[in-house]
This record gives sequence, C-alpha cells and structure tokens, in this order.
Amino acid sequence: MARLDKLYMGTNTKMYKTIQETRNFLLRLYELTKDLSRDEIELFVIPSYTALSAARNTVGSRQIKLGAQNMCWEDQGQFTGEISPLMLKEIGLDMVMIGHSERRHIFGESDEEENLKVTAALRHGFTALLCIGETQEQKDNGISDETLRTQLKCGLKGITPGMALKLWVAYEPVWAIGVNGKPASAEYADEKHTVIKTCLKELFGEEAGRDIPVLYGGSVNNGNAAELIQKNNIDGLFTGRSAWDADNFNSIIRSVLPLFRKRKEKFGQ
Ligand code: PGA
Repeated sequence: MARLDKLYMGTNTKMYKTIQETRNFLLRLYELTKDLSRDEIELFVIPSYTALSAARNTVGSRQIKLGAQNMCWEDQGQFTGEISPLMLKEIGLDMVMIGHSERRHIFGESDEEENLKVTAALRHGFTALLCIGETQEQKDNGISDETLRTQLKCGLKGITPGMALKLWVAYEPVWAIGVNGKPASAEYADEKHTVIKTCLKELFGEEAGRDIPVLYGGSVNNGNAAELIQKNNIDGLFTGRSAWDADNFNSIIRSVLPLFRKRKEKFGQ
C-alpha cells in the first residue's frame, strides 16, 4: 500500500499534559477512533518526555503512533539534559519530531543540528518528522520558498532515498503557529507544499520524493481543516491546540476523512 493512500493526522502536545492527562487523552482518542481503519488513517501523538513510557503502555503502535518532541543525535555521552535515540527506542516509540519551530526559534536549533538529528532518528529506525517553515520576516522579504528549500536541503543532507522511506515533513509557517498565529490559507499552504514536494523530488528522485507525506500545521482548527485537506498536496494535518481535547480532535478527523476519501477517488495517487 502506498504511503500517500493514508491520511496523516497528529498532534504535538508541547509542554502541556501531565502523565495522567496524557493517558486520559490517549484512552479517549483511542475509544473515539477505534472504528477507523488504520489502513486509511495514520494517527499520531507526540507527548512530553515524561509521559512517553506511560503513553506507550496505554496504546499500541497500530492504533496510535507515538513520538518524542526532540532527540539528541548521539547514542550516549556527556550531554546533560539530553535524551538519546537508545532511550527512546527502549520505550518503544515509533517516531521523533525534529526541528519544530519552537525548537528552532526559542532554543536556537540550526539546520545542521536538525540534520544530525534526522540522520540519527532514521538510522535508529524511527520515523522522522522534520518540521520546516518560514518566519513572518522571511515571508515579507519574499524568501519563503528559498527558506523552505534551504531547510530541506540542509536538514536532509546525506539522507538517501532508502532512508527517506521513513521520513515525513511538516510545513508549519512560524507566523501561523500558536495563540498569536493566524492560519495560512489553504491556497497558500498548497502552494508551499508544491515547493516542498518539488524539492523532495530533487533530493530523492521522482518516486521516493513523491511518496514522502507532507503535513500542514499552524492553527489548524474545526473551521479550516476541511478546506486544507481538499488541497491535493496536503497529505495530512499536524494540529496543536485544537487537537488537545480528544473529542474535538476526533471531530476534526471525522470532518476531513470523507473529503480525503473523495479527493483520492477523484485524483488517485
Ligand atoms: P497550533 O500548533 O495548532 O496550536 O498552532 C501547531 C504546532 O505548533 O505544531
């Protein structure tokens, strides 16, 4: 089954939700979505580090994939405060998110660091979700496309088409994320997804590049999810605030899934 036959829907809970809150959220989300075939939807949740172990004991990979919000590129060593791939593997995680806007802009992570992390994640068999996106200033200066291409080319340096089989990309414009963000229009997001997909094909070849899921994130909500998912180049939605209530997340999923099905019927792969 081709990777893009599925709809990708996930959330990063950022620095919210305690262990117990994460467990409750996952149990409710599982209950609400268990009738949906996992051949059709890839559902994933990225909780805080402290909740990961309990989260893994709460839901199985087939039902809800679990990921870490960050990871060190070294297996072990004198890196106080860091978490290694081996530690995440021990928990049984499926994926690692790399280069979220808040990591880049609050904690100063560079494309070179993201590259080390993506490489380590893929080498260890995780799905790597690389997040990219331009700032408001870059957008105003007319260099959004150049920024995205730079983040991809530097962040994915040395990654082979074979390794890219476990790569996902999230396009999250910095100006669209969080309480002060305003969502990108579906047209704008689709246009940037085209830029990203073209660059991925340049990097990995037509076939491998085309198969990499590209998700949109940044103020996704009940009001704009349907419009976004009808765009051909948007393979899924990566949602923050609007997904942190399982019932609301479920209602977003239910609203976009039929539209995604229709799109697939109409345009195929
Ligand atoms: P938001 O977060 O949906 O709350 O804007 C998106 C993100 O940071 O991934």
